[in-house]
Amino acid sequence: MKSVLFVCLGNICRSPAAEALFRERCPHIRTDSAGTSDFHVGEPPYAPMATAAGARGIDMSDLRARQFTTSDFRNFDLIVVMDKENRRNVESLRPAGNTTPVELFAPFAAEGTADEVPDPYYSRDFDGCLDLLESAAIGLQRKIS
Ligand code: 4NP
Repeated sequence: MKSVLFVCLGNICRSPAAEALFRERCPHIRTDSAGTSDFHVGEPPYAPMATAAGARGIDMSDLRARQFTTSDFRNFDLIVVMDKENRRNVESLRPAGNTTPVELFAPFAAEGTADEVPDPYYSRDFDGCLDLLESAAIGLQRKIS
């Protein structure tokens, strides 16, 4: 596995946090993130999420939101989505014949019970989100390295 793309809706909360956590753990893997929407293209991570991540020593300050595109299927070995709606939206853009795996992130977590990473933009539980993302990042690291 050489490259992983994390995907959420806005690319300002969950997927950039997943990217920032994962690249710390796996610097040898090319890591990026994207949103299925264009709502926040060009924006830095959402400040409350960046603050919560910073408190754990995770720097997200270089990240900027971009929208997922069909060429991402060619450019990454694995696409990891935060929820089933992201998965539907990503799958709707899959080029004919492409076989890049698209997997939910939460089931990689040690607890292993959640299907989805709840959106902290709505729940406001940034720390709970980071706990789940960290556990899932460890699980993904174990699986692919
Ligand atoms: P994310 O959270 O998908 O984890 O980046 C969201 C951020 C913004 C919006 C939705 C979700 N929004 O609708 O603006």
